[in-house]
Amino acid sequence: MATVFVTRRYPGGALARIPAAGHTMDVWEEDQPIDRATLLERAREADALLCTLTDTVDGELLDACPRIRTVANYGVGYDNVDVAAAHARGVAVGNTPDVLTDATADLAFALLLAAARRLPESMAIVTEGRWGAFKPDGHLGRDLAGATLGIVGAGRIGAAVARRAAGFDMEVLEGTSRGGTPLPELLERSDFVSLHVPLTPATRHLIDAAALERMKPTAILVNTARGPIVDTDALIAALHAGAIGGAALDVTDPEPLPADHPLLAAPNVLVLPHVGSATTRTRGRMTELAVGNVLAGLAGEPLPHAVPA
Ligand code: DGY
Repeated sequence: MATVFVTRRYPGGALARIPAAGHTMDVWEEDQPIDRATLLERAREADALLCTLTDTVDGELLDACPRIRTVANYGVGYDNVDVAAAHARGVAVGNTPDVLTDATADLAFALLLAAARRLPESMAIVTEGRWGAFKPDGHLGRDLAGATLGIVGAGRIGAAVARRAAGFDMEVLEGTSRGGTPLPELLERSDFVSLHVPLTPATRHLIDAAALERMKPTAILVNTARGPIVDTDALIAALHAGAIGGAALDVTDPEPLPADHPLLAAPNVLVLPHVGSATTRTRGRMTELAVGNVLAGLAGEPLPHAVPA
């Protein structure tokens, strides 16, 4: 029987299917990600690796752990995995698509609403004891109905965000590398811009100073995809200059974002700690898919959710 190294305590109970199938399972039980040296050591004898975005899986790791034939990444994104290096070594790579689409689209909308209606500021007014009498001209936010939402990357999550936007009577512009509204036009016309592209060399800093400059000075940027899609320094400068109206981010570059990072001192910014898929049901279903990939790989079968070459 095989050995599986599991880099975190993935929730929901599906991990138990690995020992139940007769395999040996070694789990990194700490709350913090496993450090690189320990990962290389602990996975040395593993036949499969169940990992996530905090684990870099590259040629060096696969050469140090030459028995690994399956890498099951917990997440729909897999920019932490060098897929070409894996495939070149005959290692299959899997991810966990679909099951997190709704949770992530919900969070994109929660960010959009929170920024549009200035929820963090309003909450601070209450918790800091500054809640005065009702003010007709106080706390004014932005309407969603009739506003234009630009969705960059209309894959599964982008499409789910578009469905939600229709329910809010928004006009939707969709732009992908394969068609739809060209990015410059989408940025210029949108009141809200929501990012849903994977992180690749082509999308790194897709939202740079020039892109931010194209946006309306009132526009709000929402990012639930990957932090490095946005040039953080350019975003900080744009927020300070009032070149855009605000940013609502579930992902940042770097991640985690230190509490003294200049992004947090920029005006009109709202940051969450990468919780797009963090619901009990979704995270449990992600474990089920990742374990399904592990078990298929160990059985010599194609992964049910294989990442293409
Ligand atoms: C993903 O799936 O890629 C998320 O970022 C982590 O849940």
